[in-house]
Parts: sequence; structure tokens; C-alpha cells
Amino acid sequence: MKKEIDGKTEIIGIIGKNVENSLSPFIHNQIILKHSLNFCYLPFQVAESNLDKAIQGIKALNIRGVNITFPYKVKVIKFLDEVEKSAQRVGAVNTIVNNKGMLTGYNTDVIGFKRSLQEDEEFVIKKKKAVIFGAGGAARAVVYALLEEEVEEIYIFNRTPERAEKIKQDFSSFFPKSSIYVFPLEEENLKDKIGSAHLVVNTTSLGIPPQIDKTPLPDEKLFHPDLLVYDLIYHPAKTLFLRQAEGAGAKIINGLPMLVYQGIESFYLWTGFKPERKEVLEMIKRINFLA
Ligand SMILES: NC(=O)c1ccc[n+]([C@@H]2O[C@H](COP(=O)([O-])OP(=O)(O)OC[C@H]3O[C@@H](n4cnc5c(N)ncnc54)[C@H](OP(=O)(O)O)[C@@H]3O)[C@@H](O)[C@H]2O)c1
Repeated sequence: MKKEIDGKTEIIGIIGKNVENSLSPFIHNQIILKHSLNFCYLPFQVAESNLDKAIQGIKALNIRGVNITFPYKVKVIKFLDEVEKSAQRVGAVNTIVNNKGMLTGYNTDVIGFKRSLQEDEEFVIKKKKAVIFGAGGAARAVVYALLEEEVEEIYIFNRTPERAEKIKQDFSSFFPKSSIYVFPLEEENLKDKIGSAHLVVNTTSLGIPPQIDKTPLPDEKLFHPDLLVYDLIYHPAKTLFLRQAEGAGAKIINGLPMLVYQGIESFYLWTGFKPERKEVLEMIKRINFLA
């Protein structure tokens, strides 16, 4: 929004199930205000049974575009007119752009995750091993990003192993140099796999309300000091998963840098304007949202 909304204001927003916990409306509206752009970013809480109608509504209401968040990143694809090539390969969409009634899906989570890892200049994932918890829309982006970075082996642990198998099937032929292995969440192999890994990522929703006191790792003693432990959740800033990892001496990172980087890319797709990472982080610090 500029200072005032007028007849030419373009609407952007976010569609998800728990958008009241999202930081995206604050971030995008701060960017809009600071740069006097004639946009307004709104939260749209949508039940799964209404997802198709909500997506059709983007066209009907001439909304410029939306972010798609938990748990619709995979489910939304069938309602779109087209999906950009890399998002199609990832099989998940977190950004929709409406071009004169044509809805195109993009995935900016991949670049968001990659850039957030690159912030730690000492950390290189090439030819190393990673453990991933979860196999939903966010996991697909994370696994894809790691494969693009030439990770050697990825071990995916998920409550529903079939979803993880699907990731393996979908991605393996694009990245023949890397190997993907799939396990059920309570697999005893977890000990070996975390023992040899350099990176452990939680992409499950264990850690956000109503599962705020849950973690996907059954035994915190499996963490070790040579790990980078990453939780895609940013609110709370330190989930139980991250607190336990920190307690074991591992380096930790939460989902905020990824949120900022993917948000910058989505904003650019809708508006043609690319805000600076630094200014976005300063906006977030000012409200102390994550304290
Ligand atoms: N920081 C960022 O920028 C960013 C970006 C994207 C996502 N995220 C966060 O990532 C998380 C996942 O999002 P998503 O879009 O991937 O959601 P999703 O597609 O619904 O996937 C959810 C994942 O969590 C697992 N899960 C849920 N409840 C569980 C339970 N009780 N026990 C074990 N596993 C459970 C699911 O396992 P099943 O397959 O067995 O159901 C699935 O693997 C959310 O917290 C989201 O906010 C953050």
C-alpha cells in the first residue's frame, strides 16, 4: 500500500491454512510502504475444501499474485494454468503470478533455501551428506536445492515413507551423481545417518502450533557438534529441535533467512521490484516479532 489504498491498488497476498502465524504480510507491506508502491499484501486463510475456489478467485478478483504456504504447495498445482519449469520439476509451488487471467506457478523456496545456506561461507554441502525430516512441499524444495548443490547423499525420513519415495522417483533421474535414500521416521538407521551427516533439516510442521513441543528426532543424543542443524520453522525462533541441537554443540539456523530470500524473489515476480535483504531484515528486527 502507499499511504492510502486507491482504485489502482494491486492486491497480492498469501493463501494457507495457518496464515495468522505468517510473517509474510508484515514483510511485504513494509517493503510496499517504504518504497511507496501501489500494492497491498493480504492474508487469506483458506480451508482445503475451498482451495480450488480460492485459486479461481485470484482470476475473478484480478489479484496480482499470491504466496502459497503450508499445506497447499503441492495440492495447488492442479488448479494452475501453467507451472514454470523448475517448479514443475520440484513438484511444489509457493508463488502464483496472475498475468491477465493466466495463473503461473513458481517455486522461490529453492533459491531461498540455497541463499540461506550460502550465508555461512564456511559451510559447503557439495559431496557431503544430509538428513531431511519430512517429505511435503517444503521438503521437495530443500531436496531439490541440495541436489543442485551436488550433495553426495540425502537420507529422507518421513512419517509416510511413500511421499519420500515419490521425491526419490521424481528427482533421481535429474541428478544421477547424488543418491537419495528413504526411511520411515522411527527408523533405527537414524543414528548412523545423522552420525555421518553434515546437515540435518527439519521440513516437517513439528514445532509449529498445535505441535509446538514436538520434534521429529526421537533422541536428542543423536545430534553432534559437527552438524549444521536447520529448521524451516521461524516462529518460534528456536523450536525444541533447534534447542536440542544447540545443546549438543551443533550450529543452528532457523527459517527466517529462507523466508526473507524467498519473499524477495516472490515480490520481484509480482512487482518487478527487488528489495535488499538487509533492509528486509532490519524491518523484521524493528518489530521484535521473533523475540
Ligand atoms: N522458512 C520458510 O521460508 C519456509 C518455507 C516453506 C515451508 N516452511 C515450513 O515448513 C513446514 C512444512 O511445510 P510444507 O509446506 O512442506 O507442509 P506439508 O506439505 O503439509 O508437509 C508437512 C510435513 O510434515 C510432516 N508431519 C506433519 N505432522 C506430523 C506429525 N505429527 N508427525 C510426523 N510428521 C508430521 C508430514 O508428514 P506426512 O507426509 O507423513 O504427512 C510432511 O512431511 C511448515 O512449518 C512451514 O511453515 C518454511
